[in-house]
Amino acid sequence: MPRVSLPITTERLTLRSFRPGDEDDVFAYRSVESVVRYIPGDPKTREQVADLVAERATNGRIDPTSPNLTLAVELDGRVIGDVLILLEGLGGADGRQAEIGWVFAQDVAGKGYATEAARAITDAAFREVGVHRVWAELEPENTASSRVCERLGMRREAMFVKASWFKGEWTDLAVYALLADEWPAGRQS
Ligand SMILES: CC(C)(COP(=O)(O)OP(=O)(O)OC[C@H]1O[C@@H](n2cnc3c(N)ncnc32)[C@H](O)[C@@H]1OP(=O)(O)O)[C@@H](O)C(=O)NCCC(=O)NCCS
Repeated sequence: MPRVSLPITTERLTLRSFRPGDEDDVFAYRSVESVVRYIPGDPKTREQVADLVAERATNGRIDPTSPNLTLAVELDGRVIGDVLILLEGLGGADGRQAEIGWVFAQDVAGKGYATEAARAITDAAFREVGVHRVWAELEPENTASSRVCERLGMRREAMFVKASWFKGEWTDLAVYALLADEWPAGRQS
């Protein structure tokens, strides 16, 4: 089964498994209504954050019973967000694709941290897990998230109209993607 070597270090960030002690940092962003507006679920309670931190302890291994890898993104000792790789096609070494996602605290916005972390998990998905394609789906009105995709060099491949029942309404859905042989360009930008 594929494994991502942890921690992943970038110029400014460390991407690592969640661990006890992360709860306050995670609660600080996961409990905010505007932060979870475009991600599934309501703002989290302290109890839910404690479960989330405990459930997401990982050794980097991705297997069919646990096809998603969620990593804490640490900046100077503080968890400022989390990023996700959700692997599809785990039946064999061929046919693998990965969905990626991200959520970050609002007070660190506008400094490129989400893009830096997203670039690191995209790189791990292509180079360590060996996926053929990395993709992300989002509501097009979530323009900050669209720009993260674009900075990675992802292509907007689809825009489905009122295709998703999300938080009590039909919403549009944009799909962004990038193929393995296109990745070197994204890594440099
Ligand atoms: C989506 C989300 C992660 C984007 O956050 P963000 O702060 O815009 O993204 P980054 O951290 O990559 O910062 C990029 C911005 O910093 C600027 N920036 C400053 N210094 C930078 C640097 N060194 N490198 C790159 N960008 C830098 C960029 O120009 C960019 O600004 P712009 O978008 O106005 O052009 C954030 O809005 C979020 O967590 N939202 C809630 C959760 C969510 O919606 N998740 C996605 C669901 S689909």
